[in-house]
Amino acid sequence: MPVLSVIGAQWGDEGKGKILDLIASKADVVVRYQGGANAGHTVVVGQEKFVFNLLPSGILHPGKKNVIANGMVLDAAQLLTEIDGFQKRGIDLGGRLFVSAAAHLVFPYHKAIDRASEGVKGGTRIGTTGRGIGPCYADKIARVGLRVGDLYDEARFAARLEANVREKNTLLKALYGAEPLDFAAMLAEFRAYAVRLEPYVADTFHLLRDCLDAGQYVFIEGAQGMQLDIDFGTYPFVTSSNSSALGITAGTGIAPKRVGEVLGVAKAYTTRVGAGPFPTELPDAEAQLLRERGGEFGAVTGRPRRCGWFDGVAARFAVQVNGVDSLALTKLDTLSGYDKLRVCTGYEIAGHVTDRFPVGVTTLDKVKPRYETLSGWKEDVSGVRRVDDLPAAAREYVDFLEDFLRVRATILSVGPARDQTIFR
Ligand code: GDP
Ligand code: IMO
Ligand code: MG
Repeated sequence: MPVLSVIGAQWGDEGKGKILDLIASKADVVVRYQGGANAGHTVVVGQEKFVFNLLPSGILHPGKKNVIANGMVLDAAQLLTEIDGFQKRGIDLGGRLFVSAAAHLVFPYHKAIDRASEGVKGGTRIGTTGRGIGPCYADKIARVGLRVGDLYDEARFAARLEANVREKNTLLKALYGAEPLDFAAMLAEFRAYAVRLEPYVADTFHLLRDCLDAGQYVFIEGAQGMQLDIDFGTYPFVTSSNSSALGITAGTGIAPKRVGEVLGVAKAYTTRVGAGPFPTELPDAEAQLLRERGGEFGAVTGRPRRCGWFDGVAARFAVQVNGVDSLALTKLDTLSGYDKLRVCTGYEIAGHVTDRFPVGVTTLDKVKPRYETLSGWKEDVSGVRRVDDLPAAAREYVDFLEDFLRVRATILSVGPARDQTIFR
């Protein structure tokens, strides 16, 4: 299949970065299609660790083209910092990074509004990453956003930015008592970004089309995950884009019929960072064990991730919505040491039990998970490279998930490193 998409099947941080990097050697182009610097994708190579916020995780493979497509929201300062960081580490992006002229720009007022509005929300706080994602997408939909291509129409850009800054300052002051932002300084800042970004700006629609017409392999990298999708996630505790596979066509311009195979990425348990319903969440004392073993702290904000058992109901929904063809199951190593493991196979809501993920209901926080209990294993599996060498209980755990999800786990990950992987 010329288009392969790697999509998070849970609440983000499933290990998409590791999996994408692992298979990127087979790609010609790697594309991010939604989200922005709220993403934190980790790739470990030898003793080195790389965290990607905006750049696609294919960057480490020389010669691959990397695309920041139109569906993304671009924090220009963050992108330039990331590019500089990679350059310092000897990785040059010249000629192989393409930034869509139609991607929306994140401005300082988006971040200020994101943080200020979260600050006054109290109990209804989403727990955003503070990267300005929601306010930037809101401006896109309200048709007052500015895009990368607008940077190069100086007079128009200045006029529209001035109008936006005036409006946002009024809002920041009136609603949050926040300090106004300085238009002239912002304009100068973005003029400087425009110069530095120019070599990367491209018409990524035609670039991708040409690549596909030439039979090249395009790999799509999802950020966030199914349950953070603006339409089908746990709204309103979601991000502001279609982070499921549903966002691929709008976010890249690749026609729906060309979007081929989908590789879902799921952890062998569940985590969530930020607020919102999480049916299989463990009480903090029990979550601590998984958090410490799995290093479950946010790659962007450093926040401790909430941890819980594998939620089969939510994962099966992810398989259905995304059309997942096969699964990469990560962090199997983190589960070593338990006597018993639990997998949620049903939700009890208002006295009824269902194995269908409820869409559009607000009662998700009242769900009582129904569990199957499986045997755990004590052995450290981080050195295992063949399925047959896994403890029987680990193989049974994987088989159980495959049967329940009706999809095959073709990649099992047993550690952060590239070689800590079992291909089936
Ligand atoms: P992403 O946002 O989906 O790319 O995931 P993150 O990078 O935010 O979080 C996944 C974390 O788990 C990173 O620190 C990875 O290095 C690490 N990781 C990935 N796969 C495995 C695995 O199989 N076992 C362990 N122990 N860590 C893993
Ligand atoms: P990756 O790509 C996990 C969460 C935030 C918050 C909600 C909205 O690394 O998997 P936002 O800043 O997007 O408005 O925050 O979404 N969130 C993520 N959680 N992994 C991510 O990305 C996330 N990106 C956003 O914690 O709950
Ligand atoms: Mg992450």
